[in-house]
Amino acid sequence: MKQLMQILSEQLSAAFAAAGYAAEYGQVRVSDRPDLCEYQCNGAMAAAKAYHKAPFVIAEDVLKCVGEDAAFTASAVKPGFLNLDVKPAYLASYLSRMAYEGASVPADEQKKKIIIDYGGPNVAKPLHVGHLRSAVIGESLKRILRAVGHEVYGDIHLGDWGLQIGLVITELRARHPELPYFDEQADSYPEEAPFTVSELEEVYPCASEKSKTDEAYREEALKATFDLQSGKPGYRALWQKILEVSVADLKRNYERLDVHFDLWKSESDAQAYIPGVIETLKEKGLAREDQGALVVDVTEETDKKEMPPCIILKSDGASLYSTTDIATIVERMKLFAPDEIIYVVDKRQAMHFEQVFRVVRKADMVAPETKLFFAGFGTMNGRDGKPFKTREGGVMRLERLLDEIEETMTGKIAENRNVRASDAADTARQVALAAVKYGDLSNQAIKDYIFDPEKFTSFEGNTGPYILYTLVRIKSILEKCGEEDKKALLAPQLLPPAGEEEKALMLSLTDFGQVVSDAAHELAPHRICAYIYRVSNECNRFYHGTKILSEEDASRRVSYLALIRLAGQILEKCIDLLGFTAPEHM
Ligand code: ARG
Repeated sequence: MKQLMQILSEQLSAAFAAAGYAAEYGQVRVSDRPDLCEYQCNGAMAAAKAYHKAPFVIAEDVLKCVGEDAAFTASAVKPGFLNLDVKPAYLASYLSRMAYEGASVPADEQKKKIIIDYGGPNVAKPLHVGHLRSAVIGESLKRILRAVGHEVYGDIHLGDWGLQIGLVITELRARHPELPYFDEQADSYPEEAPFTVSELEEVYPCASEKSKTDEAYREEALKATFDLQSGKPGYRALWQKILEVSVADLKRNYERLDVHFDLWKSESDAQAYIPGVIETLKEKGLAREDQGALVVDVTEETDKKEMPPCIILKSDGASLYSTTDIATIVERMKLFAPDEIIYVVDKRQAMHFEQVFRVVRKADMVAPETKLFFAGFGTMNGRDGKPFKTREGGVMRLERLLDEIEETMTGKIAENRNVRASDAADTARQVALAAVKYGDLSNQAIKDYIFDPEKFTSFEGNTGPYILYTLVRIKSILEKCGEEDKKALLAPQLLPPAGEEEKALMLSLTDFGQVVSDAAHELAPHRICAYIYRVSNECNRFYHGTKILSEEDASRRVSYLALIRLAGQILEKCIDLLGFTAPEHM
């Protein structure tokens, strides 16, 4: 379905043309002054210069050419604004069509193949809250970009190749030297992993602590990392077990977050491409030696900040995070040839990605039309404004954070008699997830935000639970309606709005498609949050002032029901794009 704003623009453009002015001046937008009108057009002001006429004269000329059957009524206001209101009857027929066809999102003109690199957890380390934002934002972007018709692949890009593995190997070796993985003579290794996930998670922090004070231990871990990367069989076999146990646990955690990856690729997958990368960089004369290390200069004339060279190989020949990211781009180009790669990573890594992007551009490792985009996000802070921690001041594990929010939600829901005891746990989980995700996504991603459990779990205000509550309320009204009404809702006829609240709700619903497409273009889930907050507020305003089920006029009652049902469908689609769902009752 064509967007309402587009219909208004087309009709007004036609009036500009009929009055003898260029049609492009007829672009309509949402009013800056909702107290005066719903939409406005400033085209007459722009046209004034080109036609050497007073804007007000132009506006009046245009008004004379607006047809009787236009979707809007308009007036000219000095110095030359055109103020527009949608005709109630037109709005009713537009929404009847929307209600019948189902609210849809307009597809983007150009269908693109997009890889989103998000999640980015590190194997053998527990997920902590720092990984939450990447997962939540990335998942939502994936869903939004798919909704506008793109072919999107979400890639978790596991960190499975760094020093953390060397540390874990070193610590396991110290604890269990008898394991076959450390026996140079061994030629086969057991099926069963020699640790559980909780043991593994305890090993890493312990090893990491030791390496900070014990230089020899750190050397050993570096050596273990190097040996692993060079293919030492025992270490490779142990690494496989670390991966197995860790990935199973990660899958469980991401499942709980309703976050799903299409690709479970990892840093190690890119290693095969590194020799080729080095060769290309040398061949093209881009790499130079610097104190034994191999670096690529990436400064550009327009740089305002210092841009250090990108280190490709350290002096001991080891590759780095940058090397892996460069090689991953080469791999992705080969396997997918994407039009776009979007990185949803902490904004503190901006410089790293800028270096990587410059290297691959200089070396023609990406097609010139392939877009590389760093969608950096800010830090999740506690109420003290510092990075979010546990009450004891330690790193907050993601699981624990979710447990705590679920617990709060369970308490709130237990007080509510609408929820059956057998559903309470599921409902609490759903609402808790909405609280966490909405709390994050309602902020512009690039900004830091304060994770405030009390605020996020509230049923009032700009929160996930408030949105769900609105939706559940709509569902419960619809459940209560009679058989005749249900039948009439199969081909609903909406009547022109009877009051201001009803019209405001109707207008908000017409914006759905545009909002999703804006969110896709700007990679901005917060736009969808702002939108559903508005729709929810309009819904609540509407049914506070309107008796829906007890309305005696049957066609008006059905019109009301159709309106809130459409609002419910739109809210439901939007929360799906944000990555959460609503319970039946709450
Ligand atoms: N594992 C990294 C970290 O924890 C994030 C990975 C982001 N993606 C990438 N392609 N570098 O910081």
